[in-house]
Order: sequence, then structure tokens, then C-alpha cells
Amino acid sequence: MAKKFTVSSFLKAKKNNEKISMLTAYDYSTAKILDEAGVDSLLVGDSLGMVMLGYENTLQVTMEDMIHHCKAVARGTERAMIIGDMPFLSYHVSVEESVRNAGRLIQEGNAHAVKLEGGEDIIDKVKAIIKAQIPVIGHLGLTPQSVNMFGGFKVQGKSEKQAKKIIEDALLLQEAGVFAIVLECVPEKLSKIITEKLDIPTIGIGAGKHCDGQVLVTQDMLGMYKNFTPKFVKQYADLSESIEAGVKMYIEEMKKGEFPAKEHTFSIDEEVLNKLY
Ligand code: KIV
Repeated sequence: MAKKFTVSSFLKAKKNNEKISMLTAYDYSTAKILDEAGVDSLLVGDSLGMVMLGYENTLQVTMEDMIHHCKAVARGTERAMIIGDMPFLSYHVSVEESVRNAGRLIQEGNAHAVKLEGGEDIIDKVKAIIKAQIPVIGHLGLTPQSVNMFGGFKVQGKSEKQAKKIIEDALLLQEAGVFAIVLECVPEKLSKIITEKLDIPTIGIGAGKHCDGQVLVTQDMLGMYKNFTPKFVKQYADLSESIEAGVKMYIEEMKKGEFPAKEHTFSIDEEVLNKLY
């Protein structure tokens, strides 16, 4: 079995200037394919609310949803490090609730680490979760759980004030002990500054090439979710097209009586058969 990717692997990769690959996964069979393909880390993102459950945004995703999907991903994964996203309100009410919920993603969901959106506002929760020996990855920039505060899914950090706040939050998170930070939808030159300032890796999504690693929503990069494709997504395959072609062929062959063919059926002894008439 290939050596597992861990928190130490994240830090080692930054030190050695090696890029870290991360993709989202929400189910057993996809996790197995991605893990076998060699991805370093699987994020069970709350983006599952949109791409798996059909919600408009991530705000309706619950702890039960996250645990359910984390468990499935964990069953399909051998090497990759599994990160469970903490959903909206699971770390906003109190420090105690935050630690309990982070612990559930580890204990029940079998994740190896958790991800929280935000900086200074949630730093007490981040510290308490790390104190409970749970590795944390931060998330700054366009944090989708704040969509209503941002007034939509908009690039963050373009003004001096916003950019300085993101840099400050990144340094605060590092000081609090997070092992990496996701930077979402921020200008490339801002993510370069942050990446150079930090000793821990940055993982970019819509943050340009200077980050220490990249993450994409698997459904976006494989062309399975076409409701909306952000500018930063590169589509590496068109699985919607392949699935549609396969399904159309199945319907046609089945209606024409070409499927199932002999090789897809089971036989029965003539002697047994004769007794059935
Ligand atoms: O939920 C998610 O998939 C994420 C990534 C977009 C970073 O947070």
C-alpha cells in the first residue's frame, strides 16, 4: 500500500517545494477512483450541498449530511488524507459545540482533519479544536458560507482593506496552528504574497498558480455539474456527455431487445426446468 498522505506530508511538501493535489469527494466509488489515481487529499466539502444534493448554496448542509458522506469517502480511500468540511452553524454557536462537531467528523465520519471557513472571527474555535488534537485546515477569501454577507459568490481581496484582512487572518490561523489554508477566489498576486509569508501550505481554488497546492470540485473538473462553471475551473473530462451517451445506448439496446444478451444471463438445468412447466 502506498504511504499515507498526512499532516506531515503537507508540511514536507511545502518545505520541498512540491505541489499538493486535492479534490473533493462525496461518495465511496468516486473516492476510490480518485485515491487510486494518486490524489494527495480528498476534501469532503460542503459543496456537496450543491453538486450532490441540488441546493442553491452550502447553507443547508448539516452535520448529519457531512458525517454520512465522510464515512462513504473513508471506506473508499487508502492513501489520501481525508478532510471533512464543518458545515454552516456547526462551529458558530460556541467553542464546546465546535469541538464536539469537529470530533464527530473524526470519530463518526473517519476524516483525518477538518476545515473551517474564516479567520479572526472563529479563531477561538480553531484553537480549541486543535487543542483537542484535531488537525485543522483554514479557508479564506470567498468563503461560501458567507455568501449572504458577500452578496453573492464574488472575488475577495481586491481592495487594500480586504487584501490586508485576508493576510492578517492567514497569519492568525497559522499562529493558531492550522496545517494549511485554502485560498478561494482571490487575486493571484495576493495569494502569492500570502503563500510566501506562510510556513504552512496554501491550497488555491481560483487563486492562481503560486499556491502550494490546488483544489477543485471534482464534479466541476470532470464536467458532471454544469449549472454553473466558475472561471477558475478547467474541465479535464466531460463525464456528463459520456454518461448521457451510455444511457442513450442502454435505452436503445434494451428497447430493441439487444440487451441483455446471452452473456448477461444465467442458465438453469433442463431437468429442473422441465419440472417447472
Ligand atoms: O466545499 C468545498 O468543496 C470547498 C472547496 C471549494 C474548497 O470548500
